[in-house]
Amino acid sequence: MKRLSILGSTGSIGVQALEVVRAHPDAFQVVALAAGRRLDLLAEQVREFRPQVVSVGKPEGAQELKEWLRGLPVKICFGEEGLGEVAAYPDAQLILLAVVGAAGLKPALAAVRSGKDLALATKEALVMAGALLTSEATARGAKLLPVDSEHSAIFQCLEGGGRAALKRIILTASGGPLRQYPKERLASVTPEEALNHPTWNMGKKITIDSATLMNKGLEVIEARWLFDIDVKRVDVIVHPQSIVHSLIEYVDGSVLAQLSPPDMRLPILYALSYPDRLEHPFPTLDLLQVGSLTFEAVDRERFPCLEYAYEAVAVGGTAPAALNAANEVAVELFLNREINFAQIPQVIEAGLRGHRSRSGESLQDILAVDREVREELSQTYRDKVRQAS
Ligand SMILES: NC(=O)c1ccc[n+]([C@@H]2O[C@H](COP(=O)([O-])OP(=O)(O)OC[C@H]3O[C@@H](n4cnc5c(N)ncnc54)[C@H](OP(=O)(O)O)[C@@H]3O)[C@@H](O)[C@H]2O)c1
Repeated sequence: MKRLSILGSTGSIGVQALEVVRAHPDAFQVVALAAGRRLDLLAEQVREFRPQVVSVGKPEGAQELKEWLRGLPVKICFGEEGLGEVAAYPDAQLILLAVVGAAGLKPALAAVRSGKDLALATKEALVMAGALLTSEATARGAKLLPVDSEHSAIFQCLEGGGRAALKRIILTASGGPLRQYPKERLASVTPEEALNHPTWNMGKKITIDSATLMNKGLEVIEARWLFDIDVKRVDVIVHPQSIVHSLIEYVDGSVLAQLSPPDMRLPILYALSYPDRLEHPFPTLDLLQVGSLTFEAVDRERFPCLEYAYEAVAVGGTAPAALNAANEVAVELFLNREINFAQIPQVIEAGLRGHRSRSGESLQDILAVDREVREELSQTYRDKVRQAS
């Protein structure tokens, strides 16, 4: 029985992780949960899975939850401190981090600093602080287990073939909902269109990241840290069916791939059960039904965000943290209809190129950069919108 802490339990990944737990009651036990604002769903999860501790975003939320859960033996905490407690909960053996965005960085560090294995969905934490997180994990003997389907695929392929003769990693991208939109149409894309992903049903932020291809850029940086590989050896190709989740190529030209339906419960299950494999009670791959698998090159002119990720890694230091902050600002401005879709790459470019990178060795440095870039871009773009209206 593996004891789990799940951060972001009310989100897309969190809910699917709990489905996996529900399907394997003899393999997993939930001891701690954390979420932000969706108190009703969290309360239901607490009643079903009976964790010992639970954290919510705000003190008022914690108070409300206490009233709803009166009589249940659960400790209720809140805010950053609560997230930290759930991330390093002594009774947990494995932490699943599925909080969206930069809010995941401190809990990721808390988890690895407590020596616990971390199943990582929150790629933003690795993008912001890859060097720090991986070195702390190595120092404390904590494993970083990928949850992202692409990285799970690479991880599984490497389990089979080892990495001594690895030549390159090929990340697949669905291409997102706007893959076939001409460039001149992008400025008028609405949040509803961009949120309508063809193959994956995910949280809003990652769905917009998929539409801009920034998600693939973040994944290139994630791969750099998870697999300790130069990004020059990480390629991206578009595969609209989302069946081949990624590939690795060896020096002799042999290519290994991992295939499964586009269902996050499989990579979640593998991260939770690793190094074992458990039965997957959900639909499995039927290649005859899929029929054909197609591949195409990324259009880097229409979707420049991918290039910004390579650029951020080349600059190094705090540049990826600046890229991540700029992207989070851009996505929020777009979802609030304060900028149009074609302006998202412009905000990211401004955040990245306007930033003077520093070493990024300490958490304080990284958080300072995150704050500075957010403040500067939010102000600049809100002023621009005000002037234009
Ligand atoms: N969804 C996918 O299929 C998928 C695939 C690969 C990787 N990922 C990665 O997994 C992460 C989560 O994605 P998602 O799609 O599951 O996002 P999501 O549906 O938006 O869920 C985010 C979760 O984080 C919680 N949360 C947000 N801010 C918080 C804070 N400050 N304190 C505590 N909890 C907070 C939310 O709580 P409330 O809702 O209660 O406010 C929710 O439970 C992202 O980094 C994403 O890139 C997702």
